[in-house]
Amino acid sequence: MLELKKDFPVLTSNPNLVYLDSAASALRPQAVVDAMNDYYARYGVNVNRGIYDLSDYATIMYEKTREKVAEFLQAEIEEIIFTSGTTDGLNTLSRILEQKINPGDNIVVTRMEHHANLIPWQQLAKRKQAELRFIEITSNYELDLESTKKVIDERTKIVSVTAASNVLGTITPINEFTVLAHSVGALVIVDAAQLIPHGPINVKDIDCDFLVFSGHKLYGPTGVGVLYGKKKLLEELEPVAFGGDMISRVSYESASWAELPHKFEPGTPPIAEVIGLGTALDYLRQIGWNNIQAHEQELVNYVLEKLPEVATIIGPANQVTRTATFSFIIPNTHPHDIGDILNRDQIAVRVGHHCAMPLIQHLGLVGTTRAAFGIYNSTDDVDALIEGIKKVKKILLNEYL
Ligand SMILES: Cc1ncc(COP(=O)(O)O)c(C=O)c1O
Repeated sequence: MLELKKDFPVLTSNPNLVYLDSAASALRPQAVVDAMNDYYARYGVNVNRGIYDLSDYATIMYEKTREKVAEFLQAEIEEIIFTSGTTDGLNTLSRILEQKINPGDNIVVTRMEHHANLIPWQQLAKRKQAELRFIEITSNYELDLESTKKVIDERTKIVSVTAASNVLGTITPINEFTVLAHSVGALVIVDAAQLIPHGPINVKDIDCDFLVFSGHKLYGPTGVGVLYGKKKLLEELEPVAFGGDMISRVSYESASWAELPHKFEPGTPPIAEVIGLGTALDYLRQIGWNNIQAHEQELVNYVLEKLPEVATIIGPANQVTRTATFSFIIPNTHPHDIGDILNRDQIAVRVGHHCAMPLIQHLGLVGTTRAAFGIYNSTDDVDALIEGIKKVKKILLNEYL
């Protein structure tokens, strides 16, 4: 197993913390904190506009991250747009793609979307008198491919799906969606917020049209995210946010746009955060994605062995189609009480609807407790969770296990 706790200052500052909330935000290694401090301390000036050395240097450091992200996704450099996060990327897409939707068209999402990949499409459908359709979930908490075939038809313009559920841990078969969606001429958008910490995603292989993720789920800073789009599409689409840096020429009457990727990056970007994201990618590459995936698999296997002894997992029991994010319930207890009691032993979990309220209602639940494991977690953390749950059951249910 990897032993990385020493690299993460939040964990060294809180030695008894059992951090199981990486699906909300992964912690950052010291290298990321140092890279951001270095920017502010040594060359903290604006990018893309100075003719002086320091601004050139800041621009080079900023653009280096774009190259690293492009390599990580197997994309072209111009296809990488920096955003403030997944939510920002999806909202932007729902506005730039509005021009492609007509009354009577439909947009397809799944029943397991985070609010960030539901509400922008729900609102777009309302604005354009289009229909919002849903891919169903099977009894094993995976996506139902039969229902996918039923909802995607010749009026489908957009299929926007999560690559991995933040509630269930399910990894979804993106390739199946792209083949089906492209056969009717629809665009495919991938919400990769939860899949991205598990390794590089080859956008050419999965053939998605757009893909979004956030830096803070990838052991990087908050406030930065990535929107990948196929060059041809980004070239033909009109921007929806305007200002400095994204223009070519401006008069009082009109404006024309800069080349990609700047056309979709108006205003001063989150420079320190972009640089921090590049450092996070370097850090992960140095550890090795194979090692990260093996570590995660070991954790998944161990949780699947131990957690069912004390709680009911709401998510796939299949090691292959899931991430290390585990929602669970304990009958006759409330998730808030579980989280509260676990917190007394410094076990940090998330409770509630996890920004997927319709999914939780669809499953007939009030909420779940979610333990999401990251590269710094060990089987000891799983044991701590299991002991914590036993304590919860003793307190709330008078159960002695
Ligand atoms: C699947 C999924 N999509 C979107 C988001 C939104 O990400 P952000 O809050 O970084 O914009 C999250 C965050 O939890 C998520 O898990």
